[in-house]
Order: sequence, then C-alpha cells, then structure tokens
Amino acid sequence: MKIHPSQVDRVLIFDTTLRDGEQSPGATLNVDEKLTIARQLARLGVDVIEAGFPFASPGDFEAVQRIAETVGTEEGPVICGLARATVQDIKAAAEALKPAVYGRIHTFIATSDIHLKYKLKKTRAEVLAIAEEMVALAKSYTEDVEFSPEDAGRSDPEFLYEVLARAIAAGATTINIPDTVGYITPSEFGALIKGIKDNVANVDQAVISVHGHNDLGLAVANFLEAVKNGARQLECTINGIGERAGNAALEELVMALHVRRQYFNPFFGRSPDSEAPLTHIDTRQIYKTSRLVSNLTGMLIQPNKAIVGSNAFAHESGIHQDGVLKNKLTYEIMDAQSIGLVDNQIVLGKHSGRNAFRARLKELGFELSEQDLNKAFIRFKDLADKKKEISDWDLEAIVKDETQTQVINGFHLERVQVSCGDHACPTATVTLRTPEGQELTDAAIGTGPVDAVYCAINRVINVPNRLIEFSVQSVTAGIDAIGEVTIRLQHEDRIYSGHAANTDIIVASAQAYVNALNRLYTVVQNQSHQPALNRSQPATV
Ligand code: KIV
Ligand code: ZN
Repeated sequence: MKIHPSQVDRVLIFDTTLRDGEQSPGATLNVDEKLTIARQLARLGVDVIEAGFPFASPGDFEAVQRIAETVGTEEGPVICGLARATVQDIKAAAEALKPAVYGRIHTFIATSDIHLKYKLKKTRAEVLAIAEEMVALAKSYTEDVEFSPEDAGRSDPEFLYEVLARAIAAGATTINIPDTVGYITPSEFGALIKGIKDNVANVDQAVISVHGHNDLGLAVANFLEAVKNGARQLECTINGIGERAGNAALEELVMALHVRRQYFNPFFGRSPDSEAPLTHIDTRQIYKTSRLVSNLTGMLIQPNKAIVGSNAFAHESGIHQDGVLKNKLTYEIMDAQSIGLVDNQIVLGKHSGRNAFRARLKELGFELSEQDLNKAFIRFKDLADKKKEISDWDLEAIVKDETQTQVINGFHLERVQVSCGDHACPTATVTLRTPEGQELTDAAIGTGPVDAVYCAINRVINVPNRLIEFSVQSVTAGIDAIGEVTIRLQHEDRIYSGHAANTDIIVASAQAYVNALNRLYTVVQNQSHQPALNRSQPATV
C-alpha cells in the first residue's frame, strides 16, 4: 500500500516487533518465525513492517528479503529496513528490500550532545552533513525514506529543527522522533512535536512519526500526547517488547484510539461522533497476534498487562461481577470480542476428518503446506484420543508447536520417561536423535522430574547453559488441558527461548528445552564455522 505524506488523515501504525522488538534479550527469532509474524502483522493491518536491520547479520538480511518477497505485495504493508547513516548499511537495506512492491529505508544518526560527544565523536556540523548526504543516498534507491535523529528526546530542539529540515529537503518523507532512552514525559513530548510543526518550515512534506521506549512506563502516554500535537505515525511493537523496558505497545495505542475515538477525533479535524476508524488495524486480530509473538519470542505476558493480559477482562470482586452481570458497561470499557478474545469454541473431536481439520485451520488463518498439515493432523488425532473436545486454542497450540518452533536439522526428542514421587528419587531417561541421525540415550537424576529430564538432555547435547526462566500455562480450562511450557536459558551473555505444548507437561518441558538448546546450538555452530563480518563499527542499535 502506497503512503503519501499529504494523504495521511489518520494514524499510521509502524510495527517494529521484528526489529526493535527482537532486540529484547532472548527474543531472537529465526527467519521462518519472522515470516510467520510478518504474515500475521499483515492480517492485523499494520501500515509498515520494520522487518529488520539488514546489515546487522546475514540472518537479518535474509529475513528482510524474504518478508519483502512474500508480504511486501501490492496490497500488503510497506516493508522497511533499518540502516545507520552509513553507505554500507543503506546499500544493504536497499538490496534486501528490492523484492518489496513498497520498500522503505529507515536511516538514523544521533543528535543529542551526549551521543555526539561520547558515542559519535562528531560535531553538530558533521552530523548535519552526514544526515543530509545519507538521506539523499537512500532516496536514490527508494521514494520512501524515513529519517530518525536518535535520542531526539534529549537533543537541543533548535539543532533538531535544523537536522529535520535538511533531512526533508534531501528527500525524507517520514521524520521519526525517537525518545531513545524513555526519558521524556507526555507534556514535554507533545510540546516537542508542536515545536517541530511550528519551526520546521518544510515539515508538511513529511509525516511526523514517534518512537519511544518505556523506561519510565510513559511510552504509550507520550505517543497519545504526540498524536494530539500532529504525529501521524506511531512506531510500536506487539506486547510492547523491545530494547530494555520495551517500546510503546501496539495493542494499547490502537485500543486507546479506538475506545476513546470521540476524544481524539477533533485532533484530526473530525467531528467527535465520527465513526471512521483512526487506524487501519483489524482489532479482532490483536489477541491472536499477541499470543503468536509471545510464543515465538518466549516473552511471557504479565497477567495484568493492559488489553492482552489474562486478567484484562476478568472480574474478581463480587461488586464488579454483580455490576457486569446487570450491565457490562458498569465495569467494562471495551468488549473482549473486539480484540478477538472470542468464546473458546469447541470445534472438533475424535471423529473429525482431515478436511474439517484443514477447513478450521484455514478459518483461523493458518495455511499449511501439505507436509506441515500432515504433521499437525497426526498431533491432532493424538490429542483427540486424550481429550474429547478440541477447541480453537488447542488447534492453535498444536499447529504452532508442530510447524513453527522447530529448528530444522536440530536435535529431535524421540522419547522421554520419568519416574518420580514422594518416596522416589526423580530419574529421567531421554532418547534424542542428533542432527546427523544418530539416536542417543542417557539418564540422570534430579531434584524433581523436570530437573531430571533437563540433566539427562544436558548429558546428550552437552552445551553449557543456565536455565533462567521456566513457566507452564494451560491453554484451556480442564484437567485434560494442553500445557504450554516456555523457558529461557542463558549461554555466555545471550539468552535463548524455547516453547512447546503437550497434554503431558513433562513432555512439553523436555521439548521446550530441546527447542531452546537447538537455537543455542545453531548459534554456537555458526560462530565456530563462519568468518566474522567485516564491519568498521559494531552493527547494533
Ligand atoms: O530507540 C531508537 O532510537 C531507535 C532508532 C533506531 C529509531 O530504535
Ligand atoms: Zn528503539
């Protein structure tokens, strides 16, 4: 979808889950997982997907290229690649974005005195010249160029106006104002956006965008104040994941603009009662997208998280329950269905056939290859033998588990068996198939059944690591529910996550651990085989 600055009469949603979001410790995604998330973001209706930082690594380059190819269609969102204001970064972004119908290069350089003095070791005049030159270079590859003065929230506004004016004159069609360190407060951010509107002479030739971190928990509030003062693009992530305390959460921004439309409408020159949506997001896709991102990144959602937390629509106090039974409006400002949290329907059972299975998956938005469908159908039949009624959430759990979280050519869990109890020493035996196809069996004792399984797996895979997080959640209610296990482990200074689902939580725990170790193992293998990238500066943001 083509975006022209002069036609923006609503809020553009720029999703950076796959770039800034992936900078969360342990949230590393492989290319297939990024593609799955990108497809879902397109279904959600985001305007721009920042798919990655192509120069950062060959994996990032490939992910941006494949997303550009598959999701960057004529009707699809704009696909964006991040680039520092350097020739090599901009060229890499341009190359990776080539297959997209609408590709955007997002280039940035810091403008705060603190960054100039300690990080860049450059003068203001040098930064001005680089910004201008690199925006012009990006423009030689694509019409759609975004420029960010990094750490704008702590930059001198007068210098900021000058840099922005020069970037727009050189061809930037979006100017993004990042509160990189999450320092600014809502009224200050609103005033900064107003200052830009009032003092940058050519500002009408670009969309004003905002990007902000949540170090003080103010990112969403800051953005809403920015919208009131003229910002028309919001850079956000699903579940608010991202560097340090994360980014502004997409679901919170979108639902604030949706639920409080009457309040925000006048800032868009509309009558308060206008029913026209302020974003193009299909809000019924929010819950599903949130679960997908949480499962694939291993970043759990706190129960009291706004919009998508498990308690967000739960009423505990008797007074509230009584009120809601009499009229939902007493204590609910939005409907759970508006974010796609529909009643968990019972859809299939033991006698359901392959066609019914395929058709329901299609309705849920999963279009699987024949091979993945076969694998998922076997899992479904297996589950239907144990559990009489299968719901949509069960289906989602097995499909994601079977098709998305496995590392191809990794270790495969063949068997796991545990003996435990209050008078027994927990003992586990595991059999794993190695990437070379060899079956290895080992056994270990532990402080509990999961510990015993993990010790046995460690004896086979043998890569040092420390388990730092382990969580089990049930997908549905009931004693026969599927349990989803999410773990995070640390090796040296990196964190790896693993996720798996099964009605037997010991099997799910073993599988989640193998999934995380496979990610770790791939990185360790690549490090020992690949020559280091030839870079003059470290490729981190
Ligand atoms: O936080 C930040 O400043 C960024 C920029 C690259 C936009 O992520
Ligand atoms: Zn950021």
